[in-house]
Amino acid sequence: RSIATGPDLFAPERVNSQGFDLAHAPTLARIDQARTPWLTHSWRAAPLLAQDAAPLSPEDVINPSDLTPVGQVTPASPQDIATALTAASPWDAPASARAAALNKAADLYEDNFGELFALLSREAGKTLLDCVSELREAVDFLRFYASRIPTDAKPAGIFTCISPWNFPLAIFSGQIAAALATGNAVLAKPAEQTPLIAYRAISLLHQAGVPRAALQLLPGGGSVGAALTSDNRVNGVAFTGSTATALKIRSSMADNLRPGTPLIAETGGLNAMIVDSTALPEQAVQSIIESAFQSAGQRCSALRCLYLQEDIADGVLTMLTGAMEALNTGNPWLLSTDSGPVIDQTARDGIASHIAIARAEGRLLKQVQAPEQGTFVAPTLIEIPGIAALEQEIFGPVLHVVRFKAVDLDNVIADINATGYGLTFGLHSRIDDRVQYVTDRIEAGNIYVNRNQIGAVVGSQPFGGEGLSGTGPKAGGPNYLPRFCAPDRQHSSA
Ligand code: NAD
Ligand code: ALA
Repeated sequence: RSIATGPDLFAPERVNSQGFDLAHAPTLARIDQARTPWLTHSWRAAPLLAQDAAPLSPEDVINPSDLTPVGQVTPASPQDIATALTAASPWDAPASARAAALNKAADLYEDNFGELFALLSREAGKTLLDCVSELREAVDFLRFYASRIPTDAKPAGIFTCISPWNFPLAIFSGQIAAALATGNAVLAKPAEQTPLIAYRAISLLHQAGVPRAALQLLPGGGSVGAALTSDNRVNGVAFTGSTATALKIRSSMADNLRPGTPLIAETGGLNAMIVDSTALPEQAVQSIIESAFQSAGQRCSALRCLYLQEDIADGVLTMLTGAMEALNTGNPWLLSTDSGPVIDQTARDGIASHIAIARAEGRLLKQVQAPEQGTFVAPTLIEIPGIAALEQEIFGPVLHVVRFKAVDLDNVIADINATGYGLTFGLHSRIDDRVQYVTDRIEAGNIYVNRNQIGAVVGSQPFGGEGLSGTGPKAGGPNYLPRFCAPDRQHSSA
């Protein structure tokens, strides 16, 4: 696992994408000039196959901020899936040529930032800050995997890559880049909520030189994903999404695919943070706000359950609720917005019913304002007796808080571990021995000390969980690519 106390502590030699300085007025003007032409654009997405097949009828793709259409998608039909499986052909170009195409795609992503930012904002509700970090992560994945191709890589064959809507460019591109770098044929299945950005990304990868038979796009929902994980011509699956879906895929693979077919699953979490009485309150509150509410709480890494030592709890909660008041929830296109909408009405309704129960039970500590239209959820603070009260990941801007006594620290650690999840964990403490004690005992893939607990950096902070949070290996780390290789090559170093 990785313990992060700051960026780039154990970075191998590499160059991360530079991104954009949002405090620099000329840069902001450049961004606005590049994305404004796309403010009213309507996009189209459809299967991108090596051979044409039978199109279904297009469906609207909805902007979560105002529920208007952003474009249309034609989902993959059963015949498209059959065609894609037959036409899929591993990418037999030399590793250097594959790396060159992935690097070229990274350049094209950066060249097209205006359109990609507009898509991320309008299709996925991303704020400009989130757009920048998502583009950087996508570009970093492409360049990092291009630079780490194992010398003796032999592809597994056909790899199905299934991704979630919450990182519709970065995670989508990262899985695909890893599978392509190692020479596989990829069947890419994006989340049903975000097919338009997936279509643009695949188009740019094709433009960069990735052959169509090595990279096909199959938009659609769970039934398309299920078909692509139950055909015995598939030689590996990379999945990021909920734990429940990962368990279904594992079971389908066990029934239908060859024994030993790799499943790389990165799944959900019930992420906790402990703030002890020695923490610097201002630093802790800033970390809590970013970890719980940035990206409207729709990061797998997001903080869900905050443990505050009782001696400092009232003071931290006063500062925290004050900081929540200052959060601006609204149109993600505007620079003044801190938190955009949640992804769709189903998500909003599920989160609203969780909040309604807390309100009825008198546990609602704070809820700030959010727009009525679209699928906004107001940042919310709820008191609970312990993390065990959370039966599932609440995937939105809802933070749960628990007060604990210093003598109960071991019980707190045991309760956090007992959830069975193990994705991220945060700790604020200024006692080195305590940091060592807690981090030695917490079972989580990524641990963050005296900082926020979101936003792993490719190459510096490999990202992935334990237990119900994922199978490993970690994305953006040295052990990822070998899992995409044929079984006899999986132990070669990257
Ligand atoms: P989800 O599980 O609902 O869907 C993920 C993908 O799986 C989508 O493309 C979906 O169409 C597909 N799918 C659904 N049913 C399927 C089936 N039976 N067979 C094959 N594919 C199927 O998840 P989501 O709501 O899109 O994403 C949010 C979840 O993803 C959260 O739980 C979050 O924690 C998790 N996540 C984890 C990480 C990580 O790195 N650990 C990163 C991002 C998101
Ligand atoms: N890489 C994403 C984050 O750290 C999942 O928030």
